[in-house]
Amino acid sequence: MAKYKIVQDHELCIGCGTCVSLCPKNWQMGDDGKASPKKTEVDDLGCNQEAAENCPVQCIKIVKK
Ligand code: F3S
Repeated sequence: MAKYKIVQDHELCIGCGTCVSLCPKNWQMGDDGKASPKKTEVDDLGCNQEAAENCPVQCIKIVKK
């Protein structure tokens, strides 16, 4: 079982792209102009931590499982 769950409140995302530039490994821009995580269950947070900390609307949460 994965150790962390990456949760994004997609409605809140303003599409600033910070998560995509800080963590392109796991974040991508969608056709709706908002970002989404590629994987939501991870063992190693890696750059997801920075993405969560730097999102201007704080819509990315990391849940420890
Ligand atoms: Fe959206 Fe936050 Fe990324 S506003 S584009 S989830 S940094």
